[in-house]
Amino acid sequence: MSSKIAKTCQCDVDSECFCEIEAFVKGFKLSTLTYKRVMHLLNQEMNNGLKEHTHHVADIKMFPTFVRSLPDGSENGDFLALDLGGTNFRVLLVKLNKGDVDIQSKTYLIPQRIMLGTGQQLFDHIADCIGKFVRDHDLVGQKLPLGFTFSFPCRQEGLAKARLSKWTKGFRCEGVVGEDICHLLHEALRRRTNCDVEIVAIVNDAVGTLMSAAHTDRDCEIGLILGTGCNACYMEKLDNVGLWDGDYTHPEQVIINTEWGAFGDNGCLDFLRTEYDRELDTFSINPGKQVLEKMISGMYMGEIVRLVLERLAMEGLIFRGADRDCYLFERGKFYTKYVSEIESDHDEFFRNTKQVLDEIGVENYTTEDCKIVKYVCTLISARAAFLSAAGLSTLINKKNKGDMTIAVDGSLYRFHPRFHNLMSLKMQELVKPGLKFRLQLSHDGSGKGAALVAAVAMRLRNSIKQECV
Ligand code: GLC
Repeated sequence: MSSKIAKTCQCDVDSECFCEIEAFVKGFKLSTLTYKRVMHLLNQEMNNGLKEHTHHVADIKMFPTFVRSLPDGSENGDFLALDLGGTNFRVLLVKLNKGDVDIQSKTYLIPQRIMLGTGQQLFDHIADCIGKFVRDHDLVGQKLPLGFTFSFPCRQEGLAKARLSKWTKGFRCEGVVGEDICHLLHEALRRRTNCDVEIVAIVNDAVGTLMSAAHTDRDCEIGLILGTGCNACYMEKLDNVGLWDGDYTHPEQVIINTEWGAFGDNGCLDFLRTEYDRELDTFSINPGKQVLEKMISGMYMGEIVRLVLERLAMEGLIFRGADRDCYLFERGKFYTKYVSEIESDHDEFFRNTKQVLDEIGVENYTTEDCKIVKYVCTLISARAAFLSAAGLSTLINKKNKGDMTIAVDGSLYRFHPRFHNLMSLKMQELVKPGLKFRLQLSHDGSGKGAALVAAVAMRLRNSIKQECV
């Protein structure tokens, strides 16, 4: 009986109540047809974002970035790079020398009170960190060009002029939306340090990831981030960018920061969201926003798993002996890194799963419980991987180029044991026949990528008066 159930449920759990469990998780299993519907909607939304007359109502903003040339390997010089986008802030010294890259960096924590404080507090904190870094690396007095990876949606007015359109992920600092990020940083540097830097470029992390990989791979034209947040960018022909009001000189192309994490904010993905997605959204700091991102990225995946496990526990289907005081019943206490650890268990001992359950304080769990926990993780991460695959396939089909590399970075992609394979398999189903693609891990897009954008800008600066790269 139990093995029959196990077969029906595509999992080796032999619990008698497995079919009952299935009723609570079936919403995560979506058909290929559903992913194709997602692709169709995404394509429509992206086209709306690109067109001048529909851009203001589109959820996917498709921001032109003013980055128009990929690196050619000849970039040289020393650059400062900043990386702000997750819970940490990094300052980097990047030395580019004919294809070789040397990076020294330091990571500084951003306390939550600053992430939710005022813009001035945030930029003062950043300026203090830069001041320390410059002193510690004997760079005082040198005027280094700086590339700033600022991983939030920005409307760019030039390579070094970017206005924040809204905060995403865990940030909500007052007085920054609509402001020029470069200006805020300059002001803070003036207030807090005597550092003399020249901000040459503001870059999104997806763009940095693409640039970093394109440094050595000329076929790379799409960048993807699967980390705290989820976003993609790609190289688009200027003819297709209704929003473009810059010049049309060669090369007639520009990198578009899609900001596709906002896909679904208008309700078009409601048909596939589960009750857990809705609950997560209700208790997030930005309800109704970043619908796709909340189904995929590292900031949210652990919480979706936790909500399902909590529900199963409430229904008496798992952890029958668990105490209600443990972290399983507390919002935000089941991290996405646990999902990666649990799915890395490959035998019947469930070492990682047990370690996680111990860490969150679940008591008296059984091996059946461990199997169910792992099963729930696999369903939720597979949906995330398949949605990412649907997004990338939409871009690949749109570009319609014979052979393409997609640069990928982010902690979810790096540390989840099956994400890469799940994505590749689904993409083989969704990408138009005849188009070839490969997913390539991109190293330090935020540091190296930002420095490369700055380097290309400096190189071009001598020849033309430039507002883009
Ligand atoms: C969020 C941000 C986006 C960033 C992504 C990955 O979606 O809005 O700009 O690229 O997270 O960090």
